[in-house]
Amino acid sequence: MYSFHKKKLLAGISLIFILTIGIAATTVQDKGPKPNLKVLPKDITHEELEKIMKGFNVSLGVKCSHCHAPSKTDAKKLDFSSDEKPEKNVARNMMRMTAKINKKYFNHGGDQSAAAITCITCHNGKTHPESKITLPAPPPGR
Ligand code: HEC
Ligand code: HEC
Repeated sequence: MYSFHKKKLLAGISLIFILTIGIAATTVQDKGPKPNLKVLPKDITHEELEKIMKGFNVSLGVKCSHCHAPSKTDAKKLDFSSDEKPEKNVARNMMRMTAKINKKYFNHGGDQSAAAITCITCHNGKTHPESKITLPAPPPGR
């Protein structure tokens, strides 16, 4: 009888313990959505992130919605963590490529602020940089 009660008590304590851990874990998780950053440092400041993103807009001549999909709950907002738009992943590869070019050919260590080349070097305000050269017409009389 005694051991039966003891077992029940132990089970009760364990249940409370598990519940407490469970609640604690969800509280920690509820502190905002986890950033979905695969290239930028996860501890980047809000200001630094905003500066980079605004730089993308200017470099490509686009708005944030060019790479970020609309929110599923509020169509007027963007879901910045979503990877739904393929442009976002292209941009990630472009970030890796740009860092690699700087590191390998300019020895700037991939630091965007000190980089020899950035998005605007190629894009110059366009989504698709020029790849064809149009030679100027020869001057008349030659
Ligand atoms: C050329 C594409 C592009 C444009 C334009 C762009 N972004 Fe981003 N954004 C990205 C990419 C790529 C990432 C993820 C970077 C990574 O994985 O490290 C990102 C990440 C973010 C994040 C972090 C999301 C998270 O998971 O926490 C925020 C916030 C954000 N962008 C806001 C903006 C805002 C605001 C603008 C407009 C001013 C903007 N972006 C314009 C490509 C873009
Ligand atoms: C060395 C030149 C170069 C640099 C630097 C560069 N890009 Fe690009 N990018 C290109 C070219 C070329 C294309 C077009 C590729 C194609 O048409 O297949 C392109 C295409 C893209 C596209 C897809 C086109 C679209 O419809 O939006 C995105 C997004 C993009 N670049 C973002 C960036 C971002 C963000 C950076 C800076 C981190 C960057 N690029 C840096 C050359 C470059």
